[in-house]
Amino acid sequence: MASTTKHRRLSAWVEEMAALCQPDRIHWCDGSAEENKWLCSQLVENGTFRLLNERRRPDSYLAWSDPGDVARVEDRTFICSKSQEDAGPSNNWVDPREMKQTLRQCFAGSMKGRTMYVIPFSMGPIRSPISHIGIELTDSAYVVVNMRIMTRMGQAALDALGEDGEYVPCLHSVGYPLEPGQKDVPWPCNPVKYIAHFPEERAIWSYGSGYGGNALLGKKCFALRIASCMARDAGWLAEHMLILGIESPEGEKVYVAAAFPSACGKTNLAMLVPPPACEGWKITTVGDDIAWIKPGADGRLYAINPESGYFGVAPGTSDRSNSNAIKTLRANSIFTNVALTPEGDVWWEMMEDTAPERLTDWTGRPWTPGCGRQAAHPNARFTAPASQCPSLDPAWEDPAGVPISAFIFGGRRSVMVPLVFEAYDWDHGVYLGATMGSETTAAAAGAVGATRRDPFAMLPFCGYDFGSYFDHWFQVGSKLPAPPRIFRVNWFRKDANGRFLWPGFGENMRILQWIFHRVAGNLDALQSPLGWMPGYADLEWAGLGGFTEARFRELMAVDREAWLNETAYHEEFFTSLDSRLPVEMERQRQFLLERLSASPAVWKLP
Ligand code: OXD
Ligand code: MN
Repeated sequence: MASTTKHRRLSAWVEEMAALCQPDRIHWCDGSAEENKWLCSQLVENGTFRLLNERRRPDSYLAWSDPGDVARVEDRTFICSKSQEDAGPSNNWVDPREMKQTLRQCFAGSMKGRTMYVIPFSMGPIRSPISHIGIELTDSAYVVVNMRIMTRMGQAALDALGEDGEYVPCLHSVGYPLEPGQKDVPWPCNPVKYIAHFPEERAIWSYGSGYGGNALLGKKCFALRIASCMARDAGWLAEHMLILGIESPEGEKVYVAAAFPSACGKTNLAMLVPPPACEGWKITTVGDDIAWIKPGADGRLYAINPESGYFGVAPGTSDRSNSNAIKTLRANSIFTNVALTPEGDVWWEMMEDTAPERLTDWTGRPWTPGCGRQAAHPNARFTAPASQCPSLDPAWEDPAGVPISAFIFGGRRSVMVPLVFEAYDWDHGVYLGATMGSETTAAAAGAVGATRRDPFAMLPFCGYDFGSYFDHWFQVGSKLPAPPRIFRVNWFRKDANGRFLWPGFGENMRILQWIFHRVAGNLDALQSPLGWMPGYADLEWAGLGGFTEARFRELMAVDREAWLNETAYHEEFFTSLDSRLPVEMERQRQFLLERLSASPAVWKLP
């Protein structure tokens, strides 16, 4: 489609980028069903997509990526602020002029033989005061059809932009130009990758990868890295958080936002199905990965999910772990790097109790149970429309957002960190967010299983230095008459034999119930060295027969020695950040040390 925009700056930018990338043609995406169908059929023709069995999985496709392009590439991700100090020591930094020069060479002619798609998209409901618009230029039809699920994409976004609206320019190329007559490959990409962000210019240039986290630029690049800078400058929050509603049997509802590092079960928590013992309680889903949160005129914080779909980790997703996700991806979905069944449907590890006898794995090779390989890549993904989620909250598209009553910080820690505790106040909560750590997963390239410090689950996503980020959080809270309460949770603590102490999944509802009651002011709590804790009697235990009080006390215990070591890590981590660390952070660390010093070697609930 030709351009319909009267936005002169936008037209000029598209022309300039086309002159650089030299595509054979330019297509302005309208986001229509016809356009989507046409693109999907092209992707099938090129061997990128395989149409799945229409009866089992209508209008759904499977893609297998190049084996070298399966995850976010954090070592190739750059924050190119003018000053290195602004990027902070947690980000890779290159001077923006130097990066632009390097990238101009990469992008020169990079779209030869291909189409440049112009994707206008809104992050958040169109025309919501919390939303923002982006334009992605890409030479990947796979990106276009994924963006159509993940964002409000097409003509409506272009119309909302008008003739002079602000947008974030996002340039993307897979870096695989085609010479005349050269046959394309199913998953074009380039061994050289750059995911570059220019915070002052509010621009993104991504080269060489087709993987979602590197190529769907509305998600991590815009909605977190660039938006965190926009939020810092304008007094709001752009966070790696799910948003859910907790509704009591009496119909009272509160919304919470929760930060967990990548692949720690955010989608499962966002779509939680309460166990039968919690009859009458409901969890509703607003978002599963990102929250944009702005202060409202009434002094409360209001959140939207800037996305309109889920780009979730497939392996481990099952009826048991997340029946709502399974229902969400029943149709109109894209699967990347999962296995293919002989019937033409998808499969991944733990989808069912027993694996099919035969599969084709994500590398296209025959697979049988016990062959020693995983059928799906551990970071295999589904892209599915939010509108298909059975637990979708009625207000999920409310342009005003939903009011946030609590923040939850989580992580994957097999030792030491209790199931749940509540911060003593906002500043203590900011300390809890800043000192989050998690055992690593497959969502990013690199070693799996090591504990890494991941403040606010934003380590790979914060577009500026963490010292200023923490200060921003202190500031936001200080301006609120009654800031949301802050909780820390850990579903992953193990006993001495390496077994999980807590069943997790739907049973996490019992913890959300406690949080609901704390927010509603219904329940007292017990003081521990770490924060407020529930007593055994404060949680719902019906239906969890084997869960003894002794086991709960083990799950909630605070090992003084281990925590003293932990606070030493906190200090080391803070020192590694930079000189901008707010003094309040060290004050909070001293408070924690004082509380630990006054506690027994192993503190247990009374
Ligand atoms: C994601 C991630 O894909 O956090 O959501 O890596
Ligand atoms: Mn994420």
